Amino acid sequence: MAMPAAIPTTTDRDALELPFEPYRNLPSAELEARIEATRVRLGDELLILGHHYQQDEVIRFADLRGDSYRLSRHAAASVNCRVIVFCGVHFMAETADVLTGPDVDVILPDMAAGCSMADMADLASASDAWSDLADHIDINDVTPVTYINSTAELKAFCGRNEGLVCTSSNARAVLEWSFARRSRVFFFPDQHLGRNTARAMGIGLEEMIVWDPRLPLGGNSAEALRRSRVILWRGHCSVHQMFKPGHVAEFRRRDPEVKVLVHPECMMEVVDIADEVGSTDFIIKTITAAAPGSSWVVGTELHLVNRLAHENPDKQVRFLSPMVCMCATMYRIDLPHLAWSLENAARGTPVNRVRVPAEVAEAARVALRRMLDVK
Ligand code: 13P
Ligand code: SF4
Repeated sequence: MAMPAAIPTTTDRDALELPFEPYRNLPSAELEARIEATRVRLGDELLILGHHYQQDEVIRFADLRGDSYRLSRHAAASVNCRVIVFCGVHFMAETADVLTGPDVDVILPDMAAGCSMADMADLASASDAWSDLADHIDINDVTPVTYINSTAELKAFCGRNEGLVCTSSNARAVLEWSFARRSRVFFFPDQHLGRNTARAMGIGLEEMIVWDPRLPLGGNSAEALRRSRVILWRGHCSVHQMFKPGHVAEFRRRDPEVKVLVHPECMMEVVDIADEVGSTDFIIKTITAAAPGSSWVVGTELHLVNRLAHENPDKQVRFLSPMVCMCATMYRIDLPHLAWSLENAARGTPVNRVRVPAEVAEAARVALRRMLDVK
């Protein structure tokens, strides 16, 4: 069997950054031991944040776990550390960079860990849409709201235009804040979270339009724009799109007692018939607090649902879709990338630093701070 190439020791400070390739072939036990040793060595200088969708082998190393809201709060409160290694996706690391001081390095172990939903709304298309809207409605009466699953540039756009960020756990409070100030909301990039939240507030579908950035006026008539209160960007999560009303019906047919618990990124037709809807933190709390013997079917990312099933053997926890719906980009963070990025950070050759340019960060921080201040 071929031996993996030798990896320089973590005391070799003069060398260039350690290359990734040799880590790929190391046995898991060695990677785990090296990760643990580096954590001990860095002590309080290091904070590992982990999103609930991470693989078990990675999430066990997180100092703090959470949904996007909780993780952004943890980042904002992390004043003592020097390095944050973010086991999540790119927009989460960007958010942490925006919310921490300049002497904290935020590291994403694999830069390919993006979010396909965040990629559906770029700054140029959002700015074009904003000026198109201004031709037909009073733009000073529109609050731009971006889901945290978006680029820092889009957050900055919202910050500059009196808008703010929301997450799946505070979307309703953010929309209430927005409607208390202005009469319309432009919601990026997840049409489903926007629609589900607005509907729960009693806003009718006839007052919502979908803005398709590829079409003139987003595919709407000027009259429809004038009638709208909520303008939903045409974006979605490809993982949560996989859950269908038919899956709910099939589980209920087989088990009339089953409770259906879904994330608000699911389509309205699924959310409408679910028993409970909420963020990943909410999903975890709900299952943890459920009565022994109760039966649940959960519509969110596979790794989280499998972990919940494993950690709650006294309840029946099943996955809502017959397909394997996992977030392929969250999955990119693995033991080799975690060990590689940690060892480089420890020897002073940090890799994969996520750095938001100062001007963008300043405006994005305004939008994030507004969100954190919404009660
Ligand atoms: P939460 O904030 O609920 O953890 O959601 C993050 C996410 O990306 C869901 O797809
Ligand atoms: Fe993005 Fe969907 Fe993955 Fe969440 S689950 S990070 S929204 S692609």
